[in-house]
Formats: sequence, C-alpha cells, structure tokens
Amino acid sequence: MTNVKMSQSSSQNSDPPHNNPWTVGRLLQWTADYLKGHGSDSPRLDAEVLLADVLRWPRIQLYANFDAEPDESARSAYRELVRRRAAGTPVAYLVGHREFYSLDFQVTPDVLIPRPETELLVVALLDAIKNSPLPLGEGSGVRATGPGVRVLEIADVGTGSGILAVCAAKHLPHCRVTAVDVSPAALKIAAANAEKHNVSEMIEFLESDLFSAVPADRQFDFILSNPPYVADGEWQSLPPDVKNFEPKTALLAGPRGTEVIEKLLSQAVSRLHPGGCLLIEISPQIHEAVCALVLAQSGLELLPTIKDLARLPRVVQAKKR
Ligand SMILES: C[S@@+](CC[C@H](N)C(=O)[O-])C[C@H]1O[C@@H](n2cnc3c(N)ncnc32)[C@H](O)[C@@H]1O
Repeated sequence: MTNVKMSQSSSQNSDPPHNNPWTVGRLLQWTADYLKGHGSDSPRLDAEVLLADVLRWPRIQLYANFDAEPDESARSAYRELVRRRAAGTPVAYLVGHREFYSLDFQVTPDVLIPRPETELLVVALLDAIKNSPLPLGEGSGVRATGPGVRVLEIADVGTGSGILAVCAAKHLPHCRVTAVDVSPAALKIAAANAEKHNVSEMIEFLESDLFSAVPADRQFDFILSNPPYVADGEWQSLPPDVKNFEPKTALLAGPRGTEVIEKLLSQAVSRLHPGGCLLIEISPQIHEAVCALVLAQSGLELLPTIKDLARLPRVVQAKKR
C-alpha cells in the first residue's frame, strides 16, 4: 500500500467540505454520481473496479478501507480512467482484463469483451459431455480413462480473447482445441490468455475464415461458436460503448444477422464426427431464423435451444446425425 495513507479516524466525512480529504469512500461516491450523469449503467461498480485497479487492490479491499486516502499520483491516475470511462470507454478496456467463468482474461480493444451470457456455451459443453455416449477421457466429468478412450476434439470458431477455448481446456484435461479467428490481433490475445492459464499446449490457434485454414481431414466432437450476429440494421441501436469501442468484425454479420452462422452451418456437417455437437450463441432476434437454417441441413438434428437467465433463447444446439 505505497500510494495510500491509512486513516486512523473515521470522522472525515463529517468535516466541513473544504477539509474533506479524498478518502476511498468519498472518491467512490463522487465518481459513482459523476458516471451516472455520464450514461454508465453500472456507475458504482465502474468506480470501484477502476479505483481497485489503480490501487492494485482486490475490489473487496476497498470496503475495508473507506477511510484510506490515496495519494495524489493514485488520484491523478484514477481521474484519467474516470475521464475515459465518462467518455464511453468500457471498463474492461481501461483495466485490461475481465472475468469469465471464474477465470481472469486479458482483453484489449482488439477483442470482444467477454459477456456473462457466453458462459452458457461452456455450461452447455460440459453438460453435453456428461450426457455423451462418446468414450471420452478423464476430465469429461463422467468417464474413467482406459483402453479405447480418445482425446476429445473441440473447435472454437471466432475465438476472440480465447475464453471458450481456454475454459474448455481448463475443464477437460483430455481435450484438444482448435481455435480459429479471422483477426490476427485477436489471436495474439487469445494465445496470451492460453499461456496465462497454462493450457497453451492443448490449444492450436489458427488464423482462418471459419474452417478454411483447418486441414480438411480434421473433424470435431464439439464445435463451439459465439459468432458475429448483429444485423446491419441493428447497428445504430447498439449502446455507444459497444458500437464505438468494440471491434466491428466481432459483432456485425450482414443484412440479416445470420450470414456468418449460415456459412458455419454449411461447413459444420463435414467437420463434425457422427454424433458430434454444434453449440452456437445467438441473439433472441435471430432464433427462429437459425433454427430454420439448422433444419435445412439434412446432416444435422436440431436439439432444444438453451435459454438465458432472462428466459430468452441464447444457445442453439445441433447434432450430426
Ligand atoms: C462475437 S466475437 C466472440 C469472441 C469470443 N469467442 C467471445 O465469446 O467473447 C466473434 C469473433 O469471431 C471472429 N470472426 C468473425 N468472422 C469470422 C470468420 N468468418 N471466421 C473466423 N472468425 C471470425 C471475430 O474476429 C471475433 O473475434
């Protein structure tokens, strides 16, 4: 705690305003009010995450130190982050990381910021494996290792920051993941995240338009994808911190919103082992269209769609016949 004076007294907040020191508590209150007035929908959380980042504290430590007084250099660094947040920069880009499925991931403006709803894809994968008839290896949660057990092959299409590939590798020690993205800059971040979580050896990263650069004979037990699915016409209605800061290639699919998914579905049949599964994150707006596209693929069987916490359709599932 080099940049904070720990206060002995808890009486600062009753001092007259001109004597009021900038304690942790006062900084948070002021910033939350300021960010609220600048359009943040989580002003208090933003204030806490930014201050904890500047002080290099876990966020919980703020609560035990409301009376501590960050020094001028810490306050100046904080002011700059608050200024950028008020101008719209997402908090995850300001602090350079975001938690996903209880793991911490590096993020930069080259990658989409991980969303809580995408955790459903990880849950769907782990659930599908528990119920799978495939002879899967240790780590699948249900089956013991032994003769005939083979490595589980997983593809993560549009890996971005690598969250799905890394979570799969962390939770399924006997899997091998092929993670592809069209963005070389995103692949660098994904590789750094694999390194950070010690799963680099389990993941192959490839610059590829869908499966185009994946060797033609490679097939998978699971294909995971959170593809771009925003329709051109929806773009203007996206929140400013999304449309002005996150990569367009990660979000925008084309006039219908289903363009990338259409191509993915047409490639998936030949890329899945028989009985293998495709799990795709969607927006509720395109749910019906995506189900119709799956039904049009004779090699795929449509499985029940998984809903999110708001009971909205979020993950379309299909199985290769
Ligand atoms: C919605 S982001 C998802 C990123 C990450 N998987 C996640 O869930 O946070 C979509 C990603 O797909 C990539 N992408 C877009 N079109 C692609 C394509 N044709 N082939 C491969 N990747 C693509 C983008 O660069 C972006 O990283």
